[in-house]
Amino acid sequence: MKIILLGAPGVGKGTQAELICNYFKIPHISTGDLFRSNIKEGTALGLQVNEYIKNGKLVPDDLTDALVEDRLKKDDCKNGFLLDGFPRDGNQTRELDLFLNAKGEHIDYVFLIDVPENIIIDRIAGRRVCPKCGESYNIKYHPSKVGNLCQFCGSELVHRADDEEHVVLERLAVYHKMTEPIINYYKELGVLHRIKGEEDIDTIFKSILAILIKGEKI
Ligand code: AP5
Repeated sequence: MKIILLGAPGVGKGTQAELICNYFKIPHISTGDLFRSNIKEGTALGLQVNEYIKNGKLVPDDLTDALVEDRLKKDDCKNGFLLDGFPRDGNQTRELDLFLNAKGEHIDYVFLIDVPENIIIDRIAGRRVCPKCGESYNIKYHPSKVGNLCQFCGSELVHRADDEEHVVLERLAVYHKMTEPIINYYKELGVLHRIKGEEDIDTIFKSILAILIKGEKI
């Protein structure tokens, strides 16, 4: 199955992606995570994208499309994948279609996670991430079992660099301008499912799972 998770920053795409991918044993492809690991490793791509991410802007399409296409060509994507944070504008949507259609493939499910903006701001303010293994927590809603340390690798948790409030507001503005317009495209294709994202993590996962299991296509 080929899945896209759509939604504004902080709605819970990464959190749900982990659960869905563990359940169906498909790779979780997060462009944000891929960019952040390139920045951390100081690669040429990391140096190119750092300023965009720091300021809450979209990374240019050519860099993003190439990164995703390289990842989708890997063997582990043959039985499906989940895209988290891609596509994010009309050009990326077209590129993804061209890439998949050339192989006779298409996206099966697009989940749009909807959360009011005041809740998004609260969730992002409470987000803490592990700088070593990438695990994500929330001090209020999904705390680490060992205080401010990662419960998997023991590293001290940090606030993500682009989670400062003024950058979050810019990321939200970019989402409304660039990403929201693609919702209608997937709606017209008949693959869009709107998910109420104010519920707790487990309830949201169950509602996504119910849709996926009903129409399972692996
Ligand atoms: P990216 O990393 O994709 O960030 P994002 O889309 O802004 O999403 P977030 O990671 O902030 O949030 P999320 O929806 O995954 O929520 P999470 O599960 O963590 O992108 C970062 C940057 O990279 C972009 O700004 C851009 O610069 C660049 N980029 C990425 N993709 C690109 C592309 N395609 N094109 C161009 N540029 C691109 O949850 C948030 C918090 O809430 C956590 O603390 C979590 O524990 C908590 N939480 C989750 N669910 C719940 C719940 N149900 N109840 C309570 N708390 C919850």
